[in-house]
Amino acid sequence: MRDSAGPARYSMVARVLHWSVVALIVIQFAIAWTMPDIHGGMRPVGLIGWHLSFGTAILAVMLVRLVWRLSHREPVAPETISAPLRRISRGTHALLYALLVALPLLGWANASARGWPVRLFGAIPLPPLSATGSPLGLWLGDVHGTVAIVLLAVIALHVAGALYHLLILRDRTVQRML
Ligand code: HEM
Ligand code: HEM
Repeated sequence: MRDSAGPARYSMVARVLHWSVVALIVIQFAIAWTMPDIHGGMRPVGLIGWHLSFGTAILAVMLVRLVWRLSHREPVAPETISAPLRRISRGTHALLYALLVALPLLGWANASARGWPVRLFGAIPLPPLSATGSPLGLWLGDVHGTVAIVLLAVIALHVAGALYHLLILRDRTVQRML
């Protein structure tokens, strides 16, 4: 349904992409927290290999999602949302997009510095993002771990916002993504 202000809820494609990324991220953190601590000389096998595969899948889906988002209109916001709240929510969404592209790239650069081959979905070879042994690439592994924590904090803010709409404002914001 469309009116002059835009559609009433997110399109099927946007909804499928949103919830696919949520599922992939839950799996990705579960893998990251159970995989062995990574030291020099290790190979990307087992859970570490799965972490690389799911991580590149998240990057690919996010790039598709970004193109989709930039080429489609956002649904109309319920009138219960004040202008400052709308700005905070838009800012949070932009930050989520940025973090979900930057985080896999940082992990990929670190994997390359470790001399690990990186494959999209674990199958299609991707070029290295840094030279093997590069000190910068190795350091980006620490940045990757820290940015993952920042992502969790932003997701917590996002989910708190969704619950605020659902339980307190009781408007249709959450229904637009279901
Ligand atoms: C959104 C996607 C991703 C998330 C949420 C994520 C999350 C994490 C987290 C939480 C850790 C720290 C694990 C720990 O020490 O407790 C980690 C480590 C790591 N991740 Fe990712 N990751 C993602 C994508 C990727 C990708 C695409 C790659 C490589 C292709 C990658 C490669 C690595 C490597 C090599 C480490 C070890 C870093 C080090 O300790 O030096 N990650 N990741
Ligand atoms: C891994 C966790 C999550 C991530 C990374 C994430 C990411 C995003 C992003 C980037 C958007 C902006 C969509 C756009 O405009 O293109 C969005 C919208 C939305 N998300 Fe999430 N989300 C997550 C979890 C959740 C959960 C658990 C809920 C529900 C409880 C939720 C509910 C919503 C709603 C209702 C919107 C639309 C909000 C609006 O337009 O004002 N999200 N999400």
